[in-house]
Amino acid sequence: MWRVKPLDAILATAEKKSLHRSLGAFQLTMLGIGAVIGTGIFVLTAEAAQKAGPGMMISFIIAGVVCAVAALCYAEMASMVPVSGSAYTYSYAVMGELVAWMVGWALILEYAVAAGAVSVGWSGYVVGLLEATFGLEIPDALTLGPFDGGMINLPAMAIAGLVTWLLVIGTRESATVNSILVAIKVAALTLFIVLAVPVMRMEEFTPFMPLGFAGVATAAASIFFAYVGFDAVSTAAEETKNPQRNMPIGLIGSLSVCTIFYLLVAAGVIGSVGAQPVLGADGAALAPGSRELADACRALADGKVVCSKEALAWTLREIGWPQIGNLIGLAAGLALPSVILMMMFGQTRIFFVMSRDGLLPAAFSKIHPKYNTPHVITIITGIAVALFAAFFPVGQLANISNSGTLFAFAAVSIAVLVIRKTDPNRHRPFRTPLIWLTAPIAVLGCVFLFFSLDEKSKYLFVIWAVIGLLVYFLYSRSRSHVGRGIVDVPELEPDAPPPNVVRPAEEH
Ligand code: ALA
Repeated sequence: MWRVKPLDAILATAEKKSLHRSLGAFQLTMLGIGAVIGTGIFVLTAEAAQKAGPGMMISFIIAGVVCAVAALCYAEMASMVPVSGSAYTYSYAVMGELVAWMVGWALILEYAVAAGAVSVGWSGYVVGLLEATFGLEIPDALTLGPFDGGMINLPAMAIAGLVTWLLVIGTRESATVNSILVAIKVAALTLFIVLAVPVMRMEEFTPFMPLGFAGVATAAASIFFAYVGFDAVSTAAEETKNPQRNMPIGLIGSLSVCTIFYLLVAAGVIGSVGAQPVLGADGAALAPGSRELADACRALADGKVVCSKEALAWTLREIGWPQIGNLIGLAAGLALPSVILMMMFGQTRIFFVMSRDGLLPAAFSKIHPKYNTPHVITIITGIAVALFAAFFPVGQLANISNSGTLFAFAAVSIAVLVIRKTDPNRHRPFRTPLIWLTAPIAVLGCVFLFFSLDEKSKYLFVIWAVIGLLVYFLYSRSRSHVGRGIVDVPELEPDAPPPNVVRPAEEH
């Protein structure tokens, strides 16, 4: 179980289409922003407020810093091993099969559950938009999951189904579509800031941390979700001109742009409509995504942003800009599906690589004869995502996804240190700056955020890990291709880029 897949074998067996180095710092930054801005800022801002009050601004900074250091570690790995499978593949090469398996298993949480979370976020905005624009009264039973006071979230299921279909027929986001969606998202957030920030009242910022630093930490662990997706930038290392210069600019650039937007949006929400949590009878804050909070919110005479499923649109309607609020809803409705697409794409790709390595059944990597996509695994993933989206609240899904992501980020940050020692002479197109400081901070940051997650998510992560270990020892270990000395068959590779990658190069 400690067997490694030699790096050279990985590089040789993976498709080595030599990609044109066409991406500069600007395109990389756009790529990052396209993958990152989504449900986190549009929806989870309300949950962060419920957990931390105005102190959520500190939560955004903490989560952003942890992501930035993890991103720098990711980038060295990605530039050295520019192949599919991301953290799973890196770990296989450095820390052995068992760790790789566990990372791959955790990435299932990251990608599939995140796709579910973004689907629920999309549903909140689209339902709000339909209700506000056409005066429809859509019953909660059909638009909210059981923990949020409904029964089943049908719109979230529908969008997950639609994205699955797009992936089966081989849809990929082109650079042009990505640029348009980035423009829409940035315009929506800018509009929000321009309207909300000038009407800020400083008194809304006190008490700043009504639930103390503990509240800020739990909000940081949730809002971490808002930054996930930057691995899209690291995995484009192979197509980057002068990666040593452009990669850190792209990573840190997109994270900085997102952080600045997030802070301004958060300040706008807090200062314009107030962001104090809804407390229960005992004075403790009610948990987001719980029936208690849903009931308490229903009982409030005038709503509160922490109760909203479409925080930004709600805020604008509240401060007298209902039409612009609807426009923000429209922007989220248009842009969030591409985040779901990237997440589900990443998921199918990880499954595909694990199946190609023999750790998952070979049927998973079957390729559709006409569309040339791994349709079997795409459909299985789609069904799982639709079920998550139908029944679970967005914040819970985001937290579960974060648990997997944090595990994978920590593993990569350790791997990058290990390989500096074990293979110091390998060519590294990008080297993590101050790695002996950056990587340990990344690991500690991930551990801190992991332990700040809610109990349920941590338990679920442990249960998921135990199931993963059982599957590994009962099924995968004896079937591993590396273990059986089988050389991979690269022709099985579908004609698709690595996870989360938009390839502007394909446009030329
Ligand atoms: N960062 C992405 C989002 O917030 C996953 O939707």
